Parts: sequence; structure tokens; C-alpha cells
Amino acid sequence: MRTPFISANWKMNKTVDETVLFMKEFIPLVKDTKGVDIVIAPPFTALQTAFSLLKDTNISLSAQNVFYEEKGAYTGEISPSMLTEIGCSYVIIGHSERRQYFNETDEIVNKKIKIAQKYGLAIIMCIGESLAEREAGKTMDILKKQLINGLKHISAENIIIAYEPIWAIGTGKTATTEQAQEAHNFIRGELRSLYGKTAEEIRILYGGSVTPDNIKALMSCQDVDGALVGGASLKADNFAKIVNFKK
Ligand code: PGA
Repeated sequence: MRTPFISANWKMNKTVDETVLFMKEFIPLVKDTKGVDIVIAPPFTALQTAFSLLKDTNISLSAQNVFYEEKGAYTGEISPSMLTEIGCSYVIIGHSERRQYFNETDEIVNKKIKIAQKYGLAIIMCIGESLAEREAGKTMDILKKQLINGLKHISAENIIIAYEPIWAIGTGKTATTEQAQEAHNFIRGELRSLYGKTAEEIRILYGGSVTPDNIKALMSCQDVDGALVGGASLKADNFAKIVNFKK
């Protein structure tokens, strides 16, 4: 049984004050929600405040990125121990925006996963194809390459995969349930080749224009185990509706 997993990815949104307002509204809306792992990934500057507000709730904290070294002269970067110290249990690695704007390669993603795992962080590893790649019929090749290279010499422990077709992110254009299930089923197959039976336990999230209106249909797909939600996670009532998709 894979417990549904719903995570907010706030990206570069919300100051500390805005984070406080969100949490005050959101926490009561999901306090009775059971059987769903709920995670929020605020920007670095709001993590500590978020953690103090989320203590003793059913909501966990994620960072949106981490650096692949433990410490040292890496101006502007954040290490895994800095994240665990302030209460992060998860970290998003390899988001397409990081791959696209910050030149993160599969090799960098692999190094980041390695160190995050060493520090006991659970990893939300993002993969996904661009529109041009989908139109050229290369979707499965891209997903396979990102999985194999990103997970090289990595155990299955604490790994969550997020399938996020780039053409669906922030565009309002969600993958159809057929497209999502096809990709998720393919990813599960690749995970089976890497990890054998353990692949059945790995959660595969869908991301890309998830809303309160489409979450139910997406979650009805056999291999869709949750969602990574950007835009629709910025408003507490909207995100609560997504988290409470079963109700
Ligand atoms: P979106 O973003 O929900 O705004 O499409 C999802 C993501 O990038 O994780």
C-alpha cells in the first residue's frame, strides 16, 4: 500500500509573514485529514518559521533544493545538515526549473540525492520531458535517462519520484489521466529494473497544473500516488482541497 503523498512547492513565493498567514489558515483545514502524507516546501528563508508553526501537526517540511557538498566555500549554497537542523524531512531535487535555469544535469542531481540520503532527508526527485521531446516521441527515452543517471548507485531508501512534464508546469495544461498513467507505469517499470520488488513501494507523484478540479481524476490512476503542486498550493483553501481530495 502506497500512502498518498501531496506536496506544495511554493517556488520563489511567500515571505516569512505570508508563510505565517498561510499556515494559520491551512493547518486547521487539514488537521483531521488521515491517510495522506502532507508536505510543504517553502523558500529557504521561511523554513524555520514554517517548522515552528508545523510542530505537532500532520504536515511535514521540505526544502526546494540542497547543495551536494557537506560544507565549505560554496557561496550562496545550502548544505543538507543546515536543512535537517531546522526541521526539514524532505528535499526536492532536480526540478525542471533548476535543470532549465541553473544548468542542473543528471550528474548534479545524482550527487545531490547521494548527500541528501546520507543525511536522512527523503528525496522528491523530479523528472519530465519538454513539449519538443514529447512531440518527437522521446518522452520515455528522456524519463529513462533521467532515472538511470539520477539514481546511479542510489538505494531505494527514501526516494519519491515526481513526474512533471515541463509543458504542464504553470501552464494550466494538465496531462490527461491516460498520459499520466502511461508515464507513471513506465517509470514504475524502470524502477522495477533498478530495485526489483521495492519498486512497488516507491511513490510516484504527478506534477504540472494540478488543481482541486483535476486531483481526483489524477489520483484515480493506478500508478499516480500523489502530487507536487505549484501554483495551486499558494492559497491555503485551494491546497487544502487538493490534500482533501478523498472527501
Ligand atoms: P504547477 O507547478 O502546479 O504550478 O504547474 C508544479 C511544479 O513545478 O512542481
